[in-house]
Amino acid sequence: MSLHQEISRRRTFAIISHPDAGKTTLTEKLLLFGGAIHVAGAVKSNKIKKTATSDWMEIEKQRGISVATSVMGFEYNDIKINILDTPGHQDFAEDTFRTLTAVDSVIIVVDIAKGVETQTRKLMEVCRMRNTPVIVFVNKTDREGKNPFDLLDEIESELKIAVRPLSWPINQGQRFKGVYNIYEEKLDLYTPSKQTVTESVAFNDINSSELEKYIGESDAKQLRDDMELINGVYNPFDSDQYLSGELAPVFFGSALNNFGVKELLDCFIQIAPSPRPVQTLERKVTPDEENFSGFIFKIHANMDPNHRSCIAFVKICSGKFERNVNYKHIRHNKLMKFSSATAFMAQKKETVDEAFAGDIIGIPDNGGTFKIGDTLTGGENLHFKGLPSFSPEMFKYIENADPMKAKQLDKGINQLMDEGVAQLFTNQFNGRKIIGTVGQLQFEVIQYRLEHEYNALCKWEPISLHKACWIKSDDKTQLENFKKRKQQYMALDKEGRDVFLADSGYVLQMAQSDFPKINFHFSSEF
Ligand code: G4P
Repeated sequence: MSLHQEISRRRTFAIISHPDAGKTTLTEKLLLFGGAIHVAGAVKSNKIKKTATSDWMEIEKQRGISVATSVMGFEYNDIKINILDTPGHQDFAEDTFRTLTAVDSVIIVVDIAKGVETQTRKLMEVCRMRNTPVIVFVNKTDREGKNPFDLLDEIESELKIAVRPLSWPINQGQRFKGVYNIYEEKLDLYTPSKQTVTESVAFNDINSSELEKYIGESDAKQLRDDMELINGVYNPFDSDQYLSGELAPVFFGSALNNFGVKELLDCFIQIAPSPRPVQTLERKVTPDEENFSGFIFKIHANMDPNHRSCIAFVKICSGKFERNVNYKHIRHNKLMKFSSATAFMAQKKETVDEAFAGDIIGIPDNGGTFKIGDTLTGGENLHFKGLPSFSPEMFKYIENADPMKAKQLDKGINQLMDEGVAQLFTNQFNGRKIIGTVGQLQFEVIQYRLEHEYNALCKWEPISLHKACWIKSDDKTQLENFKKRKQQYMALDKEGRDVFLADSGYVLQMAQSDFPKINFHFSSEF
């Protein structure tokens, strides 16, 4: 197979949702179709959230399991599918944001009863920043839920994206009869006791009187009315609009009952994009360029203190990766070769001899060689963009609790930040270090890991902050004035960029109106 053929048959995507909408269940059903697993219940990683709120040691134990499910690769109809897993617990949302930079498209799962929830909204913002194509799967049609039209309106307004249904539910809850597959013009019928598609009939004319035979008079009438409304209100599906991230096709089904999932998958492999070009600081890199390039979007540390080891996850952006070939680590300006990179097929890790643009490989890293955002290439000096940091939600001063171990503490903090565990800001006024996280659990993880992996003790001190804003202005004088005025609240992030730590929404608002020529950004990339 040519390089071009290999790359164009790859689909790398993530499934995202608010916890409990059905992401794990859907993932599992997709793996079943791909023959990657043979029994339901094999995907456990997201069950992490179930033990949730406070027991993070338990979470870490399960995270061990989740290395294997970080990337799930399988073949389906000659298409190589790579599903990237994202953490279920929202305290680790930053991991999810970064994973989204490594995918070419996304499936969003929405619960038919709950509609669009907070976490989904946040994740969609990240997709929007990169114009990632999204498909929406409305799950749990076997339960009573919202009116499908209301739900479409809600998706459109809450996720700020145009929608186009490609399948349509026939009733719901107890009376759920199946879906009309608009994309393939088929009627997929559902019998609750069978819990799967019991009959799939080609049906390109829903006005045919045959329809009554399958779903009864009142549902047939409703379906015809609904379809008329759909065709009147929504434009026909436009694949270019989908690919540019402006339009989300919507499917309905029940992941638990394995209903509507195959339809989703069959359509997905047809419309979802193969690896897309990626922007570097220097130029745009297209996937089927001969030369290998890729970037590190995730680092997974093994927490066992006796075997401190990490796996760096590389998204291949162009060309072909080969075992034992020299590649350049751009930040270190050093050639390196990798003899034991792993590919992720099904739930097994296996040593990889070659991998192609779109694939994810894991590189063992025992000595902090990599950090999030690092670029590897065949030699060219490239720097991939698109791994922004977002303003954390919680902040604490980190202080040394053992004066004899200051060095260890510094090293630990630096390495953990390189791994992307949390964000570090150094106050420019007094030099104090501030750690910013999305949730409380991250503070506990950091404290534990500093102690057990670096032999360092830290303590936390409160600081009341609202947001971290990356600031920029073309007006140098105004920028300098601002920095002087806000001296006590200015910090540097890990890359040495200026960050304003606003202690309240009001202060931020005042700053914005007093300094109109300064742009305040809530993410590090703008
Ligand atoms: P998540 O990864 O998005 O957090 O959700 P997950 O798949 O774990 O599903 C959350 C709950 O919703 C699970 O129930 C799951 O069985 C259920 N579920 C998923 N899809 C459907 C569906 O199509 N219909 C219905 N009725 N339920 C669905 P649970 O009781 O929390 O877990 P479990 O004990 O069943 O594993």
